[in-house]
Amino acid sequence: MKFFIDSANIDHIKEAASYGLLDGVTTNPSLVSKEGKNFRQLLDEIVKIVDGPISAEVVSTDYNGILKEAYELAKIHDNIVVKVPLIKEGIKAVKTLADEDIKTNVTLCFSPSQALLAAKAGASYISPFVGRLDDISHNGMELAKQIIQIYRNYNFKTQVLVASIRHPLHLVEAAMMGADVATMPFDVIEKLFKHPLTDIGLEKFLSDWHKSNQK
Ligand code: E4P
Repeated sequence: MKFFIDSANIDHIKEAASYGLLDGVTTNPSLVSKEGKNFRQLLDEIVKIVDGPISAEVVSTDYNGILKEAYELAKIHDNIVVKVPLIKEGIKAVKTLADEDIKTNVTLCFSPSQALLAAKAGASYISPFVGRLDDISHNGMELAKQIIQIYRNYNFKTQVLVASIRHPLHLVEAAMMGADVATMPFDVIEKLFKHPLTDIGLEKFLSDWHKSNQK
């Protein structure tokens, strides 16, 4: 399973990359705007930190505008994956980009039928937003499960990238169902390491060791 960080914060990306387990990065316009930096400069920095897929989102909503932005973004680095919203014009653009071997991540997916459209268009990744569905009392992970099943039925090559992850249990469920990728905010990545019994156990081991006057 691949681990991506869902962030545009350079310090967080560097720290997560330092653990040696990070396979890629996803950004979105909201995450980028929080950093108060130029998008292009941010991407130039990120591609130097992580050698893996880096999703960069377009903000146009018409076919020609999406394609224009996609070509600009794809030129930045081979690892850039163009993130496109799951709207009609977006799916049309994904089909064109797939025919030209430009990688895409179809974002804002909230239903299995939408995911089917993205796969048929040749998207490299589909991003079901599980947390945002949970927020409105729908079962986000159930959507991820349905997409995985549908893609398996037809051997679609589109990778399922579970997004909008809010806590470690989302990651565990995604792993149990065989999702290809999970993209997590920095605070969730940090939580993956934590268990109170690990802290208690380590403290005891160390205090016993020191009591025994080992050299
Ligand atoms: C995915 O690529 C999105 O950037 C992200 O996971 C959205 O998460 P949020 O619902 O926490 O904003």
